[in-house]
Amino acid sequence: MKNVCVVTGGGSGMGLATAEIMGKDHYIVLVGRTPGKLENALAKLHSMGVEAESFPCDVSSRESVQTLAEHVQSLGQVKAVIHAAGMSPHMGGGDIIFNVNAMGTIYMNEELAKIMPAGSCILNVSSMSAYMVPADKVPSEVYKLSLSDSSVFQEKMLGIVSSVPGEMSSNMAYTLSKNFVVWYSEKAACIHGKNGIRILSVSPGTFKTPMGELEGEQAASFALASALGRLGEPEEIGELMAFLASEKCSYLTGVDILCDGGTIAAMRSRS
Ligand SMILES: NC(=O)c1ccc[n+]([C@@H]2O[C@H](COP(=O)([O-])OP(=O)(O)OC[C@H]3O[C@@H](n4cnc5c(N)ncnc54)[C@H](OP(=O)(O)O)[C@@H]3O)[C@@H](O)[C@H]2O)c1
Repeated sequence: MKNVCVVTGGGSGMGLATAEIMGKDHYIVLVGRTPGKLENALAKLHSMGVEAESFPCDVSSRESVQTLAEHVQSLGQVKAVIHAAGMSPHMGGGDIIFNVNAMGTIYMNEELAKIMPAGSCILNVSSMSAYMVPADKVPSEVYKLSLSDSSVFQEKMLGIVSSVPGEMSSNMAYTLSKNFVVWYSEKAACIHGKNGIRILSVSPGTFKTPMGELEGEQAASFALASALGRLGEPEEIGELMAFLASEKCSYLTGVDILCDGGTIAAMRSRS
């Protein structure tokens, strides 16, 4: 029986690009909310000879993630979780974005780590936006609550996110939630490392995915001002994520890998 790789956000974009590579030696479970999108992605994987199934799940619901964990455990050894599901500022209000990006990461890590064996890896997808939060604006004390009481953490963070109006709230929710993903991945790596589970985050710059396209000209302008001066292709980050999740990286945990074509480097070198 092949080892199992769970890919959230696997119906499109970088999740699907990673599933295509992980599928060479794993049984793939594609996770998302939209059955039609999952079916199309599944057909693509099957046409490539990848053994895979889809499983509808909303990562912002702990119950939904628990059902997913129960199901994938029944399929075999879950050696890799690529947690790419996420929402960007143009996709909804601040509360929804925060719940999917931050709470979804907590639920996926807590519930999947319970069923994963030694030698496995959880890869959380953040964003280069995580690097744009000034150090004195990071609510670290509130972040710490995520490790002891995720409901209180959620309540306090939603208070911060809803303290600014409309579009600003969505932007703040996105930036803070992605900054949290990097912070949380480092902490979670220390909690689950004793069980042999590696936990990493990856922070993408601007990529040609449905989400990247939705973010429009502003996102594209970041990419054009990057060191490489272009947007990333989904396969370019898919290769990286598959490598990080593989046993070739068995001593790598608790760090974030910034894959942004040098966007942050260019910003820093200009300042
Ligand atoms: N593209 C970029 O330029 C860029 C830049 C920085 C960071 N990122 C991050 O990269 C990750 C992948 O994004 P992408 O660019 O590949 O965009 P994408 O193609 O839109 O993929 C995002 C996926 O997440 C799924 N999703 C959203 N909410 C979900 C939920 N509550 N439960 C389960 N699945 C959910 C979506 O499917 P459903 O809607 O069907 O659920 C979708 O397939 C995201 O975390 C994103 O924030 C992307």
